[in-house]
Amino acid sequence: MCGIVGYCGNKQAAPILLEGLSKLEYRGYDSAGIAVRNGEDKVKIVKAKGRLMELANKTDDGKAMKGNCGIGHTRWATHGEPSENNAHPHHSDDFDVVGVHNGIIENYIEIKDKLLKKNYSFYSETDTEAVVKLIDYYYKKYKLGPVDAMAKTMVRVRGSYALAVMFKDYPGQIWVARKDSPMIIGVDAKASFVASDVPAILKYTRKVYYIGNMEMACLKDNEIHFFNIDGEEISKELTRVEWDAEAAEKGGYEHFMMKEIHEQPTAVKDTINAYIKDKEIDFEGVGIKDEELKTLSQIHISACGSAYHVGMVAQYVIEKLVRIPVRVELASEFRYRDPILSPDSLVIAISQSGETADTLAAVREAKGRGIKTMGIVNVVGSTIARESDHVMYTMAGPEIAVATTKAYSAQLVAIYLLAVKLAYVKGTIDKKRMEELIGELKALPAKIERSLEDKERLQWFTAKFSNVHDVFFIGRGIDYAISLEGSLKMKEISYVHSGAYAAGELKHGTISLVEDGTLIIGVLTQQDLYEKTVSNMVEVKSRGAYLCGITGSGNYEIEDTVDFTVYIPKTEPIFEASLAVIPLQLMGYYMSVARGLDVDKPRNLAKSVTVE
Ligand code: G6P
Repeated sequence: MCGIVGYCGNKQAAPILLEGLSKLEYRGYDSAGIAVRNGEDKVKIVKAKGRLMELANKTDDGKAMKGNCGIGHTRWATHGEPSENNAHPHHSDDFDVVGVHNGIIENYIEIKDKLLKKNYSFYSETDTEAVVKLIDYYYKKYKLGPVDAMAKTMVRVRGSYALAVMFKDYPGQIWVARKDSPMIIGVDAKASFVASDVPAILKYTRKVYYIGNMEMACLKDNEIHFFNIDGEEISKELTRVEWDAEAAEKGGYEHFMMKEIHEQPTAVKDTINAYIKDKEIDFEGVGIKDEELKTLSQIHISACGSAYHVGMVAQYVIEKLVRIPVRVELASEFRYRDPILSPDSLVIAISQSGETADTLAAVREAKGRGIKTMGIVNVVGSTIARESDHVMYTMAGPEIAVATTKAYSAQLVAIYLLAVKLAYVKGTIDKKRMEELIGELKALPAKIERSLEDKERLQWFTAKFSNVHDVFFIGRGIDYAISLEGSLKMKEISYVHSGAYAAGELKHGTISLVEDGTLIIGVLTQQDLYEKTVSNMVEVKSRGAYLCGITGSGNYEIEDTVDFTVYIPKTEPIFEASLAVIPLQLMGYYMSVARGLDVDKPRNLAKSVTVE
């Protein structure tokens, strides 16, 4: 949700800013802009509506903008339509203060009113312009320098922000502040960087600082200083990011999504290997002790989007294996529901980015009530990872496509590992069964690889339906949870209307939408529910639906009922989601390609949603 990047060093800033923004475009892509200062010269700002390419064209790939210090922004509009005027950077009336922002300033109208009375004028509809002008106001009123002006602003504004600001009187410096929006600071021998996410700076450095909430920093070409809200200098630990730069490149694939679909065997293998030691599941790194797990009587899972769908799978898997109640809830609902949480429960937040505002709020809600929290997170050092009591990292590496694939798969296996561990500790499975399940987990990457081999057939099938109006996904139990993800993948990147239903529920209303040629995709991996779902498919077939069935190899009789079948390798029923999701991801992908859409950057979406 909006990407920011900043550079101070001995090279020309603008090309580096554009390069960094290109790695952050997944966060927002309706407009972009950069501001660069050349020594003591007046700051130069260039903005463009639309994709980053427009900005690159306008600036000759940045070469037209001289100067070694600058800030850039790629926008996902919240306040004010996508336009050049609303694009960042924003500036004070006299251009003394220029800034970019990610987040939402909730009381910006109040701030704007205050500043209007002080003779400030406003040219955009954004909350960012108000915050930049408030910094300018305090800077000029108190004349105590950037730290003081930023700190006063931080106290005055409500909401979330990652701010990067340049002051005319401090050429060659970028001042940053953060609350509840992601921001990392990178450093190499001759430059400092600031960015919303690691891929933006990975090409230049792996050495990063994580700046905390309500903290500030000053970046110069060869040094960085950190400050708390009281303006006191604080020290920070330098961390090394292990992700490699190539992981954030397309590597020969046409789209990041396809590349990431193919990275799933590795993401799953790496996640499993990180937690298996000597044939046992080792949670030392997670920081949760067996005794703590043993006393758990209930689990609450809170997440958004695909991570919520992982939670839906988790509900079935953990309840089946551990026999304790699991409640999964959309994070945006959890925080406002006044949830009833017993003291011996665990709240699990699942999040690829570790920055999703609602998921983070769920963690804080639980912590505020004295309940232990655990984050299942992909981005090391992200806010959810830092604020949760325990963290289980998924090892998916950087995920760039907006539609998640490999992070979803890595989250699924994290849940399986937790379920098996919990079941063993609580004694609902014995050692032999645990070893059997671990063996099956280890076999998953190869089976995912096999599921990927069917892609040409899936491409052919999906292209045939590229003009379809509605697609419905149905399944029971875990298959219903997988259907939810299949449906989201389809609609988010191909803009085809789709819905997922528990197979038995379709007849309670939605079946009235079924007519000749409506595509219904049934997921039938759970053998004990297989016949029930087949019956539901027959019900819609007799009303004209075209049927696709996804089932385990061996269920060949399904071909008597459905028009197109996808077979996936068999595994433990509780692990089937990991295999059934592969054809569903591929169908979403090929539908988007067949419709000529921008697979990696679907309209209106952003990968990391840091606003409520
Ligand atoms: C966005 C993304 C989804 C993702 C969701 C939650 O909507 O487009 O792919 O599932 O946010 O993100 P998180 O980073 O918390 O997993």
